[in-house]
Amino acid sequence: MPVMKKTENKSQTSLHNESTSTPSLRETYQLGSLGTTLRAALASREARSIKRRLPEPSVLGKQSLIDFTSNDYLSLSTSPLLRTRFLQKITAKDRGQILGSAGSRLLVNPDAHHRLERRLENILSRPSRNESDTPQVGILFNSGFDANMSFFTCIPQPGDVIILDEYIHASVWDGVRASRLAQDCVKTFEHNSIESIRTVLDRLLNVIPSDTSSASIAERLHSGSSSLFVAVESLYSMDGTLAPLREINKLLSQLFPRKNAYLIVDEAHATGIYGPPSRPGCGRVSQLGLDGGLGSPVGVTMREMDDGEECRVLARLHTFGKALAGSGAILLTTPLLTSYLINYARPLIYTTALAHPNVVLVDSAFDLMIEGETEQLSTHLLALSAYLANLLQTELDKARISPEIVCLPPHLLSPTLSRSLESSSLSSNDHHDISSPLSSSSSSPLHPPTPIMPLLTPHPRPLSAFLLALGMNARPITWPTVPRGKERVRVCLHSGNTKKDVEALVSGVVEWARGWTEQIEEKKEKNVVVVDSLQTQSKL
Ligand SMILES: Cc1ncc(COP(=O)(O)O)c(C=O)c1O
Repeated sequence: MPVMKKTENKSQTSLHNESTSTPSLRETYQLGSLGTTLRAALASREARSIKRRLPEPSVLGKQSLIDFTSNDYLSLSTSPLLRTRFLQKITAKDRGQILGSAGSRLLVNPDAHHRLERRLENILSRPSRNESDTPQVGILFNSGFDANMSFFTCIPQPGDVIILDEYIHASVWDGVRASRLAQDCVKTFEHNSIESIRTVLDRLLNVIPSDTSSASIAERLHSGSSSLFVAVESLYSMDGTLAPLREINKLLSQLFPRKNAYLIVDEAHATGIYGPPSRPGCGRVSQLGLDGGLGSPVGVTMREMDDGEECRVLARLHTFGKALAGSGAILLTTPLLTSYLINYARPLIYTTALAHPNVVLVDSAFDLMIEGETEQLSTHLLALSAYLANLLQTELDKARISPEIVCLPPHLLSPTLSRSLESSSLSSNDHHDISSPLSSSSSSPLHPPTPIMPLLTPHPRPLSAFLLALGMNARPITWPTVPRGKERVRVCLHSGNTKKDVEALVSGVVEWARGWTEQIEEKKEKNVVVVDSLQTQSKL
């Protein structure tokens, strides 16, 4: 068969001949001025060592590296128990459609999705409701990102006000940016600082109008004609800090007697890990007794309920992609807001609903939670976290590593951290032997343990590379993901990690820090020698 030469390709030939100024194919791929701009942006990131890249492809569960990076906190993605449960459920004879979902929720409304929502409404809220508890309705989203985008774009109305923790997730920011709020109605407060929230609110409640023809923000908030939203994460993804939810709730109750201030809680990283003793894994809102629904009495005990404080939590988000080994999310809020979202939330309306296998997987993960299977995993996880904080601080102190090289964040530093570890609650490599850190008197860091631990260092890439060479995967995190000057290696612990893994991590970090310190001192000495010899020369 005759082979057509490239130049004989008709379309190409005509392309080339149309005019001498027509770009060549190669030039076409360069994308002209668009290409120039994109390449310049990427080159600038490369020059500043902040260009993002996908990591090496990996097969979860088959990595030779120790995982200190994924959000698979309970190691459920490789759990034989979850896998078996999922397979049983998905192959059950009475299960109908088992593959996709065949359309948007507004087009087809699969029974499995509907049932999962009703089930999670029950699991994630107080079981024996007070008379005054208000029902919460769950609505599934394809991702936590979509849920945050939907909520913050749609629900706040023109004239309303949002205040955000400065470390709030990008999806909340994007939702707020796409909302109909004026710029002066969006404020941030210092991470987890009640004082800062109070200051921001005091200012908002006392704003003097520049234009006397319209009601000021303060007047609108005082009268109740505008609403205030406070957006927080219950467990912050980059810092491993827990939001002071009860304190914020109390402040809103005090400052907004007209009850027009609402708390919106993103439980993405807390789901599956924290919860009240009777419902482990149901999140921090439940753990702190704020899950009765908007306006219901706060508290898990009668004594706490006596003070008359009401829940100000209007909505909370539980995602399935982290500790629960699935994907998607459920937003729990009032029936009115749910109906509004179904009408106006574009990421909910104009997208294909979660595929059936994912819904079945999430249902199976909640089975394990209800049956108490995940409780021992989270107990081990939090014990391991307390052990890591204690051991690392002790070893960094012993090796006299300067905090300018690497250190734990302030919320994890406590006088008790440098205590001897001999009496630690961890006694073996087998995680079932680890008792709860919360009941251990030998390890009582200031902050309750969380699976996320940032190792603050101005040199996150070399530290991460050093750990990688030792077979440990802990990723460097730099600006713009975290603020400048707050670079870190973010360590995420998992239920599948062992005490031995943690010890290897600590000795790797200390070894790197020692070597890095020596390098810096050598450089300093060389500089001194050079300066000395220059001074001697100039004297001669
Ligand atoms: C705090 C927080 N909220 C929301 C999301 C988005 O959730 P999803 O991964 O389900 O889109 C993430 C994920 O990174 C997150 O960390």
